[in-house]
Amino acid sequence: MSSSTSKFTGRHTAEPLPADLAAAIRGRFLVFEGPDGSGKTTQLARFAAACAAADLETEHVRDPGGTDTGERIRSILLEHSEEDISPRCEMLLYMASRAQLVALKIAPALAAGKCVLADRFYASTLAYQGTAGGVPADEILSAALIACGDNRPDLTIIFDVDEQTAAGRLSPLLDRMEAKGAAFHARVRKGYHDQAQQDPDYVAMIDARGTPDQVTANIIAALRERFCAPAASQPQIVKPQSVKPRTAHG
Ligand code: TMP
Repeated sequence: MSSSTSKFTGRHTAEPLPADLAAAIRGRFLVFEGPDGSGKTTQLARFAAACAAADLETEHVRDPGGTDTGERIRSILLEHSEEDISPRCEMLLYMASRAQLVALKIAPALAAGKCVLADRFYASTLAYQGTAGGVPADEILSAALIACGDNRPDLTIIFDVDEQTAAGRLSPLLDRMEAKGAAFHARVRKGYHDQAQQDPDYVAMIDARGTPDQVTANIIAALRERFCAPAASQPQIVKPQSVKPRTAHG
């Protein structure tokens, strides 16, 4: 029986994931990433439902959050506050939440052979506190090693959308991070593009502008390309232009 649940956006019904793909991602650690308004959370709920329909056991988590302690840290990070929170303080709070998530949820799930589906992970820290916030990437990666040990994603899928499309998908009540302004969020998007260029074996960028069904097809194509050989179909994966040295995976 599947234990997949869509905890954050409610129940979803879905076509089962194709059996060969379900087998290929069993025991893998997959991260859905992207700018605010990219649609990744909705797609992750659909994908978790498709896994459940295929009887693939998953652990569906969100970062920051996903544990009692992590949810309290999430409130500090996302609620508006009188005092500015420095990028380094933000970085360490995200890592603290992540350390707890790894210890309580991700590492045990991987040890049990489940497929872990995470809504964000340290690629967010590299994009938001790093490229956009100015914290050096090597400091972030050092902190990630402390927080996560060797629990690294097998694949991070970045949902790429232009700023206008993303802004149109947000609720008008912006949280503290969403309210950082257009220039900050343009740097976040650049940060994600940089990661896809630098680490193409572990970071796939997909076009997230289409209909929900088109975006789901793009996710499945990215997973097939990474985990099923030979690739059955390869529509609309945004290929990095050049390959630079890897970052998060050494
Ligand atoms: P979300 O979980 O609803 O996507 O919101 C989390 C917010 O926190 C989002 O604006 C991205 C931001 N964030 C960071 O700035 N750094 C991080 O490491 C993570 C995980 C999220």
